[in-house]
Amino acid sequence: MRRKLLKIFLTTVFIYGCVAPPVTKNKEQPNEEADFGGLENYMEYHRYLREIVNTLESDPEFKRKLEKASEDDIRSGKIAYELEFVSHHVRTRLDEIKRTELDRLRELMERKANLMENNSIEDPTHHHLDHENPHTFEIEDLKKLIAKTTEDLAEADRKRREEFKHYELQKEYEKQQKLNETNGDERAKLENEYKEMEEKHKKHEKLHEPGHKQQLEEVWEEQDHMQQEFNPKTFFMLHDLDSNGLWDETEVKALFIKELDKMYQSGAPEDDMRERAEEMERMRESVFKEVDLNKDGFIDYNEFMAQTKRNDFQQDHGWQGLDEQKPYTDEELEEYVRQHQYHPFFGYAISNYLEVMGFEIECFCAAYAF
Ligand SMILES: *[C@@H]1O[C@H](CO)[C@@H](O)[C@H](O)[C@H]1NC(C)=O
Ligand SMILES: *[C@@H]1O[C@H](CO)[C@@H](O)[C@H](O)[C@H]1NC(C)=O
Repeated sequence: MRRKLLKIFLTTVFIYGCVAPPVTKNKEQPNEEADFGGLENYMEYHRYLREIVNTLESDPEFKRKLEKASEDDIRSGKIAYELEFVSHHVRTRLDEIKRTELDRLRELMERKANLMENNSIEDPTHHHLDHENPHTFEIEDLKKLIAKTTEDLAEADRKRREEFKHYELQKEYEKQQKLNETNGDERAKLENEYKEMEEKHKKHEKLHEPGHKQQLEEVWEEQDHMQQEFNPKTFFMLHDLDSNGLWDETEVKALFIKELDKMYQSGAPEDDMRERAEEMERMRESVFKEVDLNKDGFIDYNEFMAQTKRNDFQQDHGWQGLDEQKPYTDEELEEYVRQHQYHPFFGYAISNYLEVMGFEIECFCAAYAF
């Protein structure tokens, strides 16, 4: 559980770190909420999680039970009831960790109140522990910690999709705006350029269905340079890069590089690397949905073997890429354009803002560059 919970958590932090919006760029409206409720707070709660899990694992009996527990028992929080049996020494240590965490949260609130020169701010609820009981670490605390970690993972995916949608809306808006600044022949030329870029981007070899036989076989042959016939067991071990018996998100995403290369070439003006990164995440989501049966955020050996035995594994339904679908509706685009147009200052602010965003996006792509 330690490894799993920590991994789930690390993934969450990684994703949040990468897609966090450029909150600090706007000097006129510093965003205290983001500074004190956001990432900084996140990292601290991460430390709390790590300390709790390490301490629990220092109890050999609890550790043994954890190893035997099913994923469902962990996810549902059932494992938390085993807390009753851990040694007195461990319990005392857990209580201390919790009290330290509560002190930290209290201090955070005070800093925030001072900063806002305002004593009426409400206490935000930190759901990773039980506030009702400020003295000891109980079953309820462990349940909350597990639930919060799991929930954050799902939330990270939702958030990522939302930010991608925003990115695409902005991109389309910018295009329209450029067109609107031109007319006559110039406009026709620009329109033509856009169209050619789009067509060029859409022209690529067909993609295989992620996580299905054809796709994996291509990796096996062309990336792993294996001569013999596809062997699921060998394949699993080859791509379990840290040899921990599980495929995590990063290991699974690395399987899609060949597919993504068909559609996105770095340096090609018609291929957007931000879209490539999103495409990769969507492939990962699709494979986990199908293969990660216990929904713990990892693909273990048995889950993978079960996948290779399904009839559907042999089928290749292809992949509908982002070039074949828009992440927003026409109404959403209309609304976006309308909102930005009628803002009295935005006409001037927008180009400045886009420059800042452009910079952020470059950083984002660099973080994802494979
Ligand atoms: C004080 O806090 C309230 C609620 O959080 C907020 O609506 C209000 O704008 C704040 N006032 C000042 C002066 O910061
Ligand atoms: C471009 O011009 C059209 C027609 O005047 C208008 O409907 C549209 O909202 C404009 N788009 C942008 C992004 O300015």
